[in-house]
Amino acid sequence: MTDYGENRLKGVEWDDLEAMAPADRAGHFLIGRRAYHVLFAQQFTRGFLDRICDLATRTRRIAKTRGGMMFLRELLAEKRAMLYFAQPSSRTFLSFLAAGEILGLQTGEVRDSTTSSEMKGESPEDTVRTFSSYFDMIIMRHPQGGFAERIAWLLSNSDRPIPVINAGSGADQHPTQALLDVYTLQRSFEGQGGIEGKRIAFVGDLARGRTVRSLAALMTHYPGVHLSFIAPPSLQIEEAILRQLDEAGISYDVGEDLVGMLPELDAVYMTRIQDEWDREGESRAIDVSAYAITVDRLQKMKDSAVIMHPLPRRDEISPEVDSDPRAKYWRQVRNGMWIRASLIMHIFDRDGEVDRYYEDLVS
Ligand code: NCD
Repeated sequence: MTDYGENRLKGVEWDDLEAMAPADRAGHFLIGRRAYHVLFAQQFTRGFLDRICDLATRTRRIAKTRGGMMFLRELLAEKRAMLYFAQPSSRTFLSFLAAGEILGLQTGEVRDSTTSSEMKGESPEDTVRTFSSYFDMIIMRHPQGGFAERIAWLLSNSDRPIPVINAGSGADQHPTQALLDVYTLQRSFEGQGGIEGKRIAFVGDLARGRTVRSLAALMTHYPGVHLSFIAPPSLQIEEAILRQLDEAGISYDVGEDLVGMLPELDAVYMTRIQDEWDREGESRAIDVSAYAITVDRLQKMKDSAVIMHPLPRRDEISPEVDSDPRAKYWRQVRNGMWIRASLIMHIFDRDGEVDRYYEDLVS
C-alpha cells in the first residue's frame, strides 16, 4: 500500500477551500513535510525552493556519467504518471516527459480531449478520476484556473489520493515554470551574492501571463530584491500580486519605460502578449515594440545582467540576441527538465537516495 502521508485535504469542503487566499490555502496542500500536490506558487517555502534547486544540481551532476544515469533510471521504475495536457504545450510537456524518462517513470498521455470520453459527455472530473485508477501521479495543464486544485481536492477525498502537479492553469498559475525560473536566477547569480538584492524586471503581458504571476509570488522569499513591472497600461500586473509583495515587504515599481531602465537591471523576464485570452482581438491594437530586447538595447544592459523568457517568444527578443552570453532562455528550457525531475523524485520521497549517491560521488 502506498503511503500517501497525512492528508490535509480530506474532509475539507471545496467551497471553504476555494474562498481562501492562496497563502491560507497553501497549508492544506502541503502534506507532511514534503510537497505533495503542486498547484500554486504560494505553497513553496524558501526551504523548499533551496532544497529543490540543490536537488536539481545534484541530479544534473549524477547524470553526467553512464553509471549515474543508470542509477537515476531505476529510481521510479515502478511508478506511472499521466500527462494530461488539455492546452497547447511544447516545452512543459516535453520537459516533464524527459524528466520522467531520466527517472525511469512510465508515462501515459492525453493531449487532445477530443480523443477522450469527454467527447461522450463525461465530466473532466470523472475523466481525471479514471486516470487515477491507472496512474500514480497526474501532471496536468488545463485552460481553467483552479481546475488542478479541484482535481487535487477530489482525489484527496477518494481512495486513490495520488499527487497532482499543475503544469499551467489558465491565466492563473504555472508553479513548475516558477521553480525553473528561480533555479535559473539562482544559477545565474551564484557568483554575485544570489538573488537577494537584485533588480528584476517583468516585461510584456503581465496581466495574463501565468508564469509572471507565479514567479512574482516566489520573489517574496528573496529579501532585498526590487521588482519592476513594465507593460502597456492595459496589460499591467494585477493588484492582488502587488498586495502580496507589500505584505512581504518587497519593493517594486510599475511603469512603461523599459529602455530607460535597462542600465539598472540585473535580470529582465520577457513575456509574449497572451492574445489567446483576447475577447475581440484588443491586444492587436497595442504597440509592443517598446517592450522588446533588440541588439541595440542590449548595449545598454549590464555585462552581468541576464535575459529570461518562458518561451514561446514572438518579437520580444530578436534572434540575434540569442548568441549573447546574457541570454539565458535556452538554459532555462534545460533547467526545466532537471527541476521537474527533482520535483517528481521529491514528491515520491526518493530524494534521499539521490543525496546518498551524490555524497558517495563527491567524497
Ligand atoms: C508559457 C505558458 O504556457 O504559460 N510557456 C511555458 O510553459 N514555458 C508561456 C506562454 O505561453 O507564453
